[in-house]
Amino acid sequence: MAPIIEARGAWKVFEQGQLRVEAVRGAQFSVGSRELIAIMGPSGSGKTTLLTMLGAMLTPSSGDILIEGRSLAGLSSEELSVVRRRKVGFVFQAFNLFGALSARQNVEVGLRLRGFSNLEARRLAVESLAAVGLEDRADFLPADLSGGQKQRVSIARALAGGPKLILADEPTGALDAENGRSVMALLADCARKAGAAVVVVTHDPRVAQTADRVLHMEDGRLQTAELAGELK
Ligand SMILES: Nc1ncnc2c1ncn2[C@@H]1O[C@H](COP(=O)(O)OP(=O)(O)OP(=O)(O)O)[C@@H](O)[C@H]1O
Ligand SMILES: [Mg+2]
Repeated sequence: MAPIIEARGAWKVFEQGQLRVEAVRGAQFSVGSRELIAIMGPSGSGKTTLLTMLGAMLTPSSGDILIEGRSLAGLSSEELSVVRRRKVGFVFQAFNLFGALSARQNVEVGLRLRGFSNLEARRLAVESLAAVGLEDRADFLPADLSGGQKQRVSIARALAGGPKLILADEPTGALDAENGRSVMALLADCARKAGAAVVVVTHDPRVAQTADRVLHMEDGRLQTAELAGELK
């Protein structure tokens, strides 16, 4: 069976005026169903850039990304947005909630885009908010939530409806130890019980301990145990 997500020599180069930033340099790895991997590395090492390429939100400068064995190269922006909606749950580093929508509506929007009916979206949104301990905050606007609560809404939105691929950028960055543990347990359940592939970017070694594998990123390059194994 094809892995759920695969990077094949993926590069991302940003040209910013005179400056050329090689943010991701030749990422090569794959993550299968039921696997949770962590990506660690210093600030600016390319983790978010890599994650957004994996989530079909950013096109590699060269190389390819495959989701369930299907290459993203050459897909139109319409087709990419279908892949994102159907397959990917993304937890953004900056939460990216709609300020004018309640917690529940923020989760519902994602579900409606994934093709769930209004009624189903309502039910799944309530369920997903309950899973992150926010059932009593469903009608709150993001501005009336704490940082950690906003983070949990963004996690509820990413996990609602059970996407095959879950990409989480520092999902515990704004959480205390207890909420951090429960979010990681939730992400681990997505992998081990629901069979998703989960990729978590984190600075927290305790979070990385939950992972099946830890990939280290430095200056755009991934050091992977898997790759080291292949090179033997
Ligand atoms: N849109 C862009 N245009 C130009 N350069 C960019 C762009 N996005 C990211 N970069 C650069 O690419 C490098 C990697 O950035 P990225 O956001 O992937 O790092 P990161 O590992 O997620 O860092 P952090 O841990 O601080 O979130 C940085 O040097 C950054 O300045
Ligand atoms: Mg980042």
